[in-house]
Amino acid sequence: MWPYPKVLAHRGGGILAPENTLAAMRCGLDHGFHAVEFDVMLSADGVPILMHDDRLGRTVAGVGGVADFAAEQLLRMDAGSWFGPQFAGETVPAFAEVAAFCKQNGIWMNVEIKPVPGFEVETGKVAAETVLRVFQPELAVGAPVTALPLFSSFAFEAVQAAQQAAPQVPRAFLMDRITPDWRERLQTLHAVALHTNQKHLTLELAQAVKAAGYGLFCYTVNDAVRARELLAWGVDGFCTDRIDLIGAQFAG
Ligand code: G3P
Ligand code: MG
Repeated sequence: MWPYPKVLAHRGGGILAPENTLAAMRCGLDHGFHAVEFDVMLSADGVPILMHDDRLGRTVAGVGGVADFAAEQLLRMDAGSWFGPQFAGETVPAFAEVAAFCKQNGIWMNVEIKPVPGFEVETGKVAAETVLRVFQPELAVGAPVTALPLFSSFAFEAVQAAQQAAPQVPRAFLMDRITPDWRERLQTLHAVALHTNQKHLTLELAQAVKAAGYGLFCYTVNDAVRARELLAWGVDGFCTDRIDLIGAQFAG
């Protein structure tokens, strides 16, 4: 039901490195994390890059929407300085580059498709095509699902587009609050898991998702006591910002 790692480093390296950068992936790895979650968005010219916010300003200096800039510009932008001077010059990475890095270093990926509103289908499709390219050797030999990333998105249409473009790459649906249509949504997507906000999860909902045979994953769990509770409820995995407090081998 959940053949994947239990604890994932959120956005690469949690609170220890600038989110959604290669430095973050390295930081997670240095802390023993071989499993990561990060966000994928499209540039104006349709290149998938790592980015959480759809507007510049927080992690990358500047103004305007991410979708207003071509990849050539975005990939030169500094995504590290906001976090600390030691990360100055750490650029916005391309999804393909990060996927290759993770593959080389044995880091399993939960790829959150984070479309700019209006680009749901295109983002899901392009993210899926990128995975098909990077993981072509694994797909060709029918490697186990643990050798492939897991897609997720709050945008139903984005997951659907990924499903259409790469049906053999597993998918999850992300819901902040689990709404009554969760079962139907997962069935339509042939999803393997439901990803949800730990803040709103109840024991009853957790039990219902598990009884239906799905994996259950929570974001973002930064407290060990809460992590233990969720695991006791049957939650299979979670991502954390506190990779300094909650280790990859967290036993619950
Ligand atoms: O994928 C789980 C989590 O990352 C979703 O929320 O806003 O941190 O991308 P956010
Ligand atoms: Mg995310």
